[in-house]
Order: sequence, then C-alpha cells, then structure tokens
Amino acid sequence: MTRPQHFGWFLARGFGPHGWGHPYLDWDYDWTRPDLYQQSARELEQAGFDFVLIEDAPSLGSAETIDLRVRHAFGGPKLDPLLLAPYLFQATRHLGVIPTVNPAAYLPYTAARQFATLQHLSGDRLGLNVVTDTGSARHFSDAAPLGHDAAYDRAEEWVTSLRELWRSWGEGALVRDTASGVYADGTKLDAVRHRGEHFAFDGPLNAIPFTRGEPVIASPGGSGRGLAFAGANSDIQLALAPLHEKSVREYRAKIHAAAVERGRAPSDIRIMFAIQPVIVASREEADRLVAASAHPDDTVLRHLAQRQSSDLETDLTALDLDAPLPAELFAENVSHGSLRRLVGDRDVSATPLRAHLTALARLGRISDRSGFVGTAEEFADLIEELGEWGNDGVLLWGDLHPVTVHRTLDELVPVLRRRGILRRDYTGQGLRADLRAF
Ligand SMILES: Cc1cc2nc3c(=O)[nH]c(=O)nc-3n(C[C@H](O)[C@H](O)[C@H](O)COP(=O)(O)O)c2cc1C
Repeated sequence: MTRPQHFGWFLARGFGPHGWGHPYLDWDYDWTRPDLYQQSARELEQAGFDFVLIEDAPSLGSAETIDLRVRHAFGGPKLDPLLLAPYLFQATRHLGVIPTVNPAAYLPYTAARQFATLQHLSGDRLGLNVVTDTGSARHFSDAAPLGHDAAYDRAEEWVTSLRELWRSWGEGALVRDTASGVYADGTKLDAVRHRGEHFAFDGPLNAIPFTRGEPVIASPGGSGRGLAFAGANSDIQLALAPLHEKSVREYRAKIHAAAVERGRAPSDIRIMFAIQPVIVASREEADRLVAASAHPDDTVLRHLAQRQSSDLETDLTALDLDAPLPAELFAENVSHGSLRRLVGDRDVSATPLRAHLTALARLGRISDRSGFVGTAEEFADLIEELGEWGNDGVLLWGDLHPVTVHRTLDELVPVLRRRGILRRDYTGQGLRADLRAF
C-alpha cells in the first residue's frame, strides 16, 4: 500500500548568491533580499512540503584558499540563515523553516532565547539543523579547534543545555489568571545551574514555555559519531546513501539502533534521504540528457573543476586535464568526503583529471536506478519504492528560487498527490506535529 512521506527542500548553498552563473539570475534576482525566497517558500507550502532547510557554513575557509571559494561564489559569501527565517515564516502559514546552526557560534542561553522567540513568533514552525563544522572554530575563539568527535560531544551538551533552559518553566509555572492578576508562579521555575565540559551558565530562561513542543532538531552527519548524535537528539536525520534497498534499510537500522541505545523510540526520528532529481517532460528527453552527459566538453569540465576547487579548497583549474592529480596536492585539511566524490574508486596515480571530472559530469536515469534524470512518473516510482522499504521522507536539493522550484515540482506534485505519497493538508499545529502526523 502506498504510504505518505515527508518532503523537505534543501537550499544547498545557503543564504548566498547561489543563482550566480545561472541564466535565471536575470529573473529579478537579488539574493540579499527576501522577496524571491518568500515566493518560493509559498510555493513549497502550496506543494505540501513540511519544511525548507537552509545550509550554512559561517566561514570562507582558510586564508590561502579564500579566492577559490569566492571567485565563482561556490563557497561564499553567505548571510545568516537564522535571520532569513522570520521573513519565510511571515510569507507562509504552515511551512517549517530549518536554518543551519553551529554550536560553536552561540552560547546556550542566547541560543535558547533566540530560538524560543522564533518558535513563538512562527507558530511552532522552527527547526535547527545542528552541524559540527570545526573549520570555522577560529572565528569564535583563538582556542585550538575541537576534534571531530569532541565537536559532536559539545553539540550534544549544547542541545541538552537548550532543552534544560526551555524546560526551566515547570508544570503550572505559567498561570495567566486575569482574575487574580497572577501571570506566573516563580516558585515553579527551575534555576538551572549548568556546569558542563563546554558550557557553564545559570537559568532559568526568561522566555515562556512552548505550547506545542520545542523546535525540531535536524542533523546531517554521516559518521558513526554523527549517527549516534542523531539517535540521541534528532527529530530529523538527513541521509546520504545509495538508494538501493540494502543501503537504505541498513542506514535506517543504524539510526534506529542509535535511538534505542539512548532510550528513544525509532519512530521519534524521521530519516530523510537527500536527492537532487532532474525532472524532464519525457523519457526521450531524459535519455538524450543522459547520453549527452557521457561526453562533456572542456567548458563543462572546467566548470566542474572550479566547483571542486571550492569544495576541496585546492585549485584544480590550473592543472593539466590530461595528467593524473599530483599526489601531494591534497593537504590534510581536504575533506575526505569531497575527495572520495571526485576520485571514486579510480586509481589516482594512473587516472587523468579529465576522467574524474567526466565521471562526475555523467548523469544517470531514474528508471534503471543509475541516476536521477527522469520523468515525474519515474521519480514517483522511486519514491514509492523507498516507501515500501519504510522510508520516512525525501529532501530535494536546489536553489530556493521559483525557477528551480517550478522545474522540479510542477509536474511532480500532482503525480505524488495522486499516488497518496505527498500530503494534501497540514495539521495546523506546527512543524513537529506535521512531522508526527504520519
Ligand atoms: C543533506 C546534508 C546537508 C548538510 N548541510 C550542512 C550544512 O548546512 N552545514 C555544514 O557545515 N555541513 C552540512 N552537511 C555536512 C555534515 O554536517 C557534516 O559536516 C558531514 O557530514 C561530516 O560529518 P560526519 O563526519 O559526521 O559525516 C550536510 C550534509 C548533508 C548530507
């Protein structure tokens, strides 16, 4: 039987000039203004999406590689997605908004207070995508950055701290009795004396408690420590895995085991796989696109090299396309995940850069599960199959721009609705309630 799934939109390059280099930049597109984001948010809501999640990284990277990151705006600049959130809330009634936040950047009391404010202002539609990027640590302190796992430990203490503060108003503390004139019963507030490894502060929080639950916590980490964090803390886990039955089921089992280990139920977490489909009008068009992608010209390869240079903080554009990558090129700081995406399982010493980039350019068809190019019906088949494996939802990637949103959703939404995969109604009770509705 077809089961409904949750849909989110991932604004993958954050609150930045992500339309740069695209023809639709001329579509009255000023990335620093809220207007087009608001328009797109309304359309996602009309489409029945649960939320939009906004990527963020607070840093332009290391001093030596800033130029690689900003030259084509692949790695910045970026404005703060937390401050875009209220504009998106104002433009919509049901859509959740999940900005990315890094615990290194906010002291718990400030964070708990700001997020409480947004949760109240939005009618309980706030989520927080908690990330542990340690590369930006130097912007917040001159102390040595934490290691990978220690950054997760701090993130756990941070989330726990927020919850201590949000829960510092005990049962019955908020009275609001006009007859007696009593607003609150101060004896029921918990003073919260937190003395942890990373944070020390006192409470209670001076915001009132939530009526429909705390802001939703999302997490995207894929390491063992990242999955453990999700099991312990998250309402949504953003998943990257090959969309084959075995890997989807294994990924879900790992998260569920991590949740149970921390005394939670598997059903407390919605696992949402991130996918960037290219939806086209016909099978012929899909076949044509995929066939053409096997023979990228040098312009396409150079564009890919620029993009990779930003992600890898390593200049690939100056290298000979027909020579292997120099072994010493990749410094310690290079992201292993990004490197793996570039070189795959090819022999680095014997493979010319052209071959890596060509592999990267290659698209695949949804119909044979070799990629994500296909018709709306083919994509709906894939989502339906994911549902049969127990999947909770899907995170679609793209700019938060009407052109991108329309290209992806115009044909897809009616197909998904007809098949009963995509919601028609919201609970009207906020993001947490919508996520738990099925
Ligand atoms: C869908 C998705 C969204 C992500 N969004 C962000 C983000 O906004 N900011 C960030 O620093 N990292 C982001 N990441 C990367 C992860 O947070 C994390 O840095 C990376 O997975 C490494 O953590 P790990 O070692 O636990 O896997 C994202 C990853 C995925 C799959």
